[in-house]
Amino acid sequence: MKTRVFVALDNQIKEQELQEASSVIRAGGLVAFPTETVYGLGGDATNPSASRKIYEAKGRPSDNPLIVHIAHFSQLEDIVSEVPKEARILAEHFWPGPLTMILPKNEQIPYETTGGLDTVAIRMPSHPVARAFLEDSGCMIAAPSANTSGRPSPTTAQHVWEDLQGRIDVILDGGAVGIGIESTIIDLTEETPVILRPGFITQEMLQEVLGTVKMDPGIDGSDSHQPPKAPGMRYRHYAPKAELTIVEGRQEDVVARINQLSAQAVCRGKRVGVLATEETKEFYHAEYVIAIGQRDDEAEIARHLFDVLRQFDALEVDVIYSESFDTAGLGQAIMNRLLKAAGHKRIFV
Ligand code: TXA
Ligand code: MG
Repeated sequence: MKTRVFVALDNQIKEQELQEASSVIRAGGLVAFPTETVYGLGGDATNPSASRKIYEAKGRPSDNPLIVHIAHFSQLEDIVSEVPKEARILAEHFWPGPLTMILPKNEQIPYETTGGLDTVAIRMPSHPVARAFLEDSGCMIAAPSANTSGRPSPTTAQHVWEDLQGRIDVILDGGAVGIGIESTIIDLTEETPVILRPGFITQEMLQEVLGTVKMDPGIDGSDSHQPPKAPGMRYRHYAPKAELTIVEGRQEDVVARINQLSAQAVCRGKRVGVLATEETKEFYHAEYVIAIGQRDDEAEIARHLFDVLRQFDALEVDVIYSESFDTAGLGQAIMNRLLKAAGHKRIFV
C-alpha cells in the first residue's frame, strides 16, 4: 500500500484532500491525523474491520481497547448506555481537549473497537485538523496513538511515517503537536471517578470540578500484584530501543553518577546517550547529550519527551541515562511515561 501524506499548512487542510481522507475513513481505511496530544491512527469506530486493521497496522494486541474520537457531545450520547452527570460536567470544562472518559458502551460500538470490553473510551479533541476531519467525515473515529506498538508515541507526522508508511492509506500532516503526551483517562463507571492514565488534565484540575477523584493504584505499572486498570498501561511502552535508566537525587550527585556510569558503559564498548536539561547539558561528558528543555518548564519537557526518545533511537545508542523530574502537576504524567520507557529502572544517589 502506498501511504499518501496531505500537508495542512497553518492547520488548514485543502478541501479536496480533506474529502479524500474522509472517503478513506468511510470506506473502512486508515488515516493518521494530528491531535493536540499525539498523532492518532484513525479508522471508523463503528466498523469492526477498520478496528481490526488498526491493530494489525500497529502490531498491537487486540485486547487493548481504542479511544473513540468525536466532534459533538451528542455522539457520546449515541454510543453509551447511560450519561452520568459527571460526563456532562467534564465535557463542559475540558472538551474539546486532552481528556478521555470511560463509560458503559451500547451496541453502536463493536467489541473489536473496545477490545472486548463493555465500556468505551471517548474523547473530543481540540486540534483544528482533527476537528475538521471528524466534522467532514461525519464518522466517529477510533484512534490509538499512531506508533508501532511499544515505540514512543508520535508527536510529528515524520514519526508516524517512520513507523507506519506502507501500512496505512493517508497521513494528515499538521506539524508538531502542542502537548506531546497522551490524554488523561478518567473512568466514570465506578462510584468515585478514577484516573487510569495521568496527562495534561491533572488530578487537581479534575477534583476542582468533580470533588473526589481517585488515582488507579496500579497506574505506574511497577507492582505486579496491582495491574493498571487500563489494558494499555500494562504493556512496556514508550520504549526507545536502548536500555534507559533514570538517575534521581541532588543535581550535582546525579551529574557525577551519570558521568561515572557513562564512562563505564563506554569502556564496555557501548554508545551512550544522556537525557539532560538546558541547565545541566554542558556538565556531561557522554558523546550524545540531548537537553529536553528547561527544568522548570514542564510543558516543554512533555512536548519533547517522545521526540527525544526517538532521537536516541536514530543515534543508535545502546544505553541512555536520564535525569528525573518532579512529580507535581504535569510532572506526574511525564514521570509516568519516563518510568515506563525505562521499565522502572532507576537509581537513587
Ligand atoms: O491522547 C490520546 O489519548 C491519544 C490521541 C490519539 O487521542 N490516543 C491514545 O490512544 O493515546 P492509545 O490507544 O495509545 O491509548 C489508549 C489507552 C490504552 O491504555 C487503553 O488500554 C485505554 O486507553 N483504554 C481504552 N479504552 C478503555 C476502556 N474501555 N477501559 C479502560 N481503558 C481503556
Ligand atoms: Mg499508545
